[in-house]
Amino acid sequence: MVHLVLVGLMGAGKTSVGQECARRLRRLWIDIDELAVAIAGRPFDDIWADGEHVFRAFERQAIADAVARPHPAVISCGGGAVVDPDNRRVLREHGIVVWLRANPETLAARVGDGEGRPLLAGDPVGALRRLAAARAPAYEAAAHVVVDTDERSVDDIATEVVRRSAAEVTP
Ligand code: S3P
Repeated sequence: MVHLVLVGLMGAGKTSVGQECARRLRRLWIDIDELAVAIAGRPFDDIWADGEHVFRAFERQAIADAVARPHPAVISCGGGAVVDPDNRRVLREHGIVVWLRANPETLAARVGDGEGRPLLAGDPVGALRRLAAARAPAYEAAAHVVVDTDERSVDDIATEVVRRSAAEVTP
């Protein structure tokens, strides 16, 4: 058994779907953003104020820490985590990686004004369009499985994620 890893842009549903999958699989749910903040020992905004690269270093540590856990977990990554080829390699090695894909318009509707997400400040739709285009190759390279999430409920998406990763993630 391996970790179930969720990747995708901000608003893809990595948190809500990840929590639902963890509940159904009776696994621990690990949020990489939260773990990065815990490792850093200071709030997200504080870390980000030192530069995105500082956050990315803690994010890399959080991924290494999460995949090293002995019990298979459900791991929700931040949207930019798999831009780094080393993170992609580590996550694929230790987990089945599922890309929760959605149109930028769907993502924008879910994230609202982008509060708490510095990369979306000012123009969430425009930023999500740019990030979607720039990151699609990284998500594609990271993913074993792609699940489209437009106009679908958390329950419905979780059902597909668990079904399509079943061989690797169910006891
Ligand atoms: C980021 C996504 C965020 C968080 C940070 C950077 C990104 O996580 O890691 O703001 O680069 O896409 P969520 O995708 O969980 O919002």
